[in-house]
Order: sequence, then C-alpha cells, then structure tokens
Amino acid sequence: MRVAVLPGDGIGPEIVSQACRVLQKLDLKVQLQTAPVGGAGIEAAGHPLPPETLRLAKEADAILFGAVGDPRYDNLERAKRPEQAILGLRKALGLFANLRPAQVYPELAAASSLRPELVAGLDLLIVRELTGDIYFGQPKGIRSKGAEREGFDTMLYSESEVRRIARVAFEAARRRSRRVCSVDKANVLETSQLWREVLTEESRSFGDVELSHMYVDNCAMQLVRNPKQFDVIVTGNLFGDILSDEASMLTGSIGMLPSASLDANNKGLYEPIHGSAPDIAGKNLANPLATILSAAMMLRYSFNQDQAADRIEAAVAKVLARGLRTADIHQAGTQQIGTVQMGDAVVAAL
Ligand code: IPM
Ligand code: MG
Repeated sequence: MRVAVLPGDGIGPEIVSQACRVLQKLDLKVQLQTAPVGGAGIEAAGHPLPPETLRLAKEADAILFGAVGDPRYDNLERAKRPEQAILGLRKALGLFANLRPAQVYPELAAASSLRPELVAGLDLLIVRELTGDIYFGQPKGIRSKGAEREGFDTMLYSESEVRRIARVAFEAARRRSRRVCSVDKANVLETSQLWREVLTEESRSFGDVELSHMYVDNCAMQLVRNPKQFDVIVTGNLFGDILSDEASMLTGSIGMLPSASLDANNKGLYEPIHGSAPDIAGKNLANPLATILSAAMMLRYSFNQDQAADRIEAAVAKVLARGLRTADIHQAGTQQIGTVQMGDAVVAAL
C-alpha cells in the first residue's frame, strides 16, 4: 500500500503527521512518501503542484492530503495559487466522486450550533461531484466590456458526468438507508434541468433506492431545520462545496469531518474537509481527527481494510468518550488538549 502524503500548508503538516502516526501504529504494510504541495510546493519548486509531486500522486495507490492555502499567496495569479494544487490533483487523477460523511458523535451533540436533539444521531453522506461544474467549465475569465471589466465562469455538466456521480450516490445509498436527495437549482439553471433529468433516468436502474429532488436554497435551509431527514445528498461541485461546510457544523466542528475523493477504480485522495487555518498553524491547536478519520476512509475505500478502518474509528470514539477535546470541540466538563496529545490519545486507544 503506497501512500503519497501531501501535508500542504498551515495546519496541514501538523494534522497529517498525527494521521501518519495512526497509520504506522496499525500492523499494515503501508509505505508513506511525502511531497510538497500548495504554498509548500511554491516554496520548494516554484509551483503549487510540482511535477514531482504529481508523479508521486499518480504512482501511489492512495493519497493522504492535508490542506492548502496561505494568505501570503493570495495576490498571485490564479494559476499559481495554492488552491490550484488540490483542483489540479482532482482533475489530473479523475477524482470525480467526493464522499463527505457528516456524523454526530453522541458526546459532541452539544458542541453543535444547533440544539442537541436536532443533531443527535445525525448520519448523512454528501456525494459531491468534483471535477466538473462551474469550477472547471470553460470559458472563464475577466474581460473588458466597454468602460468596465466583467467576470464570467461557465456552469457545465455533460450527461455522462452526471450519470456516473448519480450511480455513486445510488450505490452508496444501498449500503445505508436507501434514500437519495438530489440537490440542484432546476427552477433557474439549464445545467440543473439536465442534472435532474439524468438523475431521474438513472434512478430507474436502482428501484430499491428512493430518489427525491430539492432546490439548493431549500436544502441549505432544511439542513439547519431538520438535518436528520437526509440520508444521501448528491449534488454538483459548487453546491456540494457550500452544503458540505454547512453540514460539517451540524456535527460540532468542521475539524471532525473526513472526505474521500475517488476515481472510477476507487483510487482516492483522502483529506479533511476543512482548510489550512493559517491563524492557528504551528500552535498545536488544530484538531487532527478529521485527517485521522480520512486515513480510516482510505483504508476502507482504497485498500479494503475494513477492520483496520473500524479500529481507527473506534479509537476516535473512545478518545471522545474519555472527554478529550481539541479547542474547537472543547466544552465545560471536558479536557482540552493539543494536536499532538490528541494523536497520542488515538494511538494509545489503538
Ligand atoms: C474544498 C475546498 C476546495 C474546494 C478549495 C480549497 C479549492 O473548499 O475541498 O471544499 O472549493 O473544493
Ligand atoms: Mg470547501
């Protein structure tokens, strides 16, 4: 099991090193190889996704990714900014299916910004399309128009792109409560109209899964009104970006949520859904659990090591049950610890 480890920027290195400790604690033949990406790629090789890093990622069986982005690079032209690293990896590796589960640990229900009874027991999966939509659609740019400039992007989905993400969602639902809610903006957008038609067509091959449709504005509202109504949400790249941040807060902290980005053969990149949090970088404050749980997803999806994944998830649950908390999920009556100590606790629980 060759894993390309790409820590990136900000808190990336701190959280990824805790996840690596957890992986090494399991008696598996995991081979970890580290390479710079994002701002770290710019520093090391003058590019957010250095060719050497891309090569390593292509050759590896799976990728463990931290986070990219640093205000220091905010003024660079778009193609040179750290975010291009993750967008470039997704595109170059064909990682079109992004799975973002949001589960509430019983001990963290009170850390949610919603009332505990609204979120206790929450278990939803956002399936976000990751290589299309307005993120990648051409043309895009900023151009002159008369006396001023205008900015433009293209929202675009082909039928086959929608069809393959629909299948991922229906198949995921089969392993859960068999309900898929497809989220779009079909009352306004042509792209969404096609999306909805293709989802409906594709659902005919999945008679055992219930399909419903919801507009994205309504979904944003329903997620804070009654989030437990959802099982699987499938949506496009842009709406999925927004809704998955929203869903993460239901669980108490964005620092808890792992993700998997998979290609057609389950080769995957695994990353926490949060960003590089430069404001707390290097202070031993970041929550490494989203990254540790991403490593568990890696074992499950790319390496078929369900047992090892279960062990990591159980270790995380045990640590939380013991009342250990990083700052983001700390509450009265629990013990606040740092990034490294959280890693220690998970390793000890294993
Ligand atoms: C995410 C992030 C990325 C995205 C950024 C860093 C490009 O917000 O993974 O959700 O928009 O996809
Ligand atoms: Mg995002």
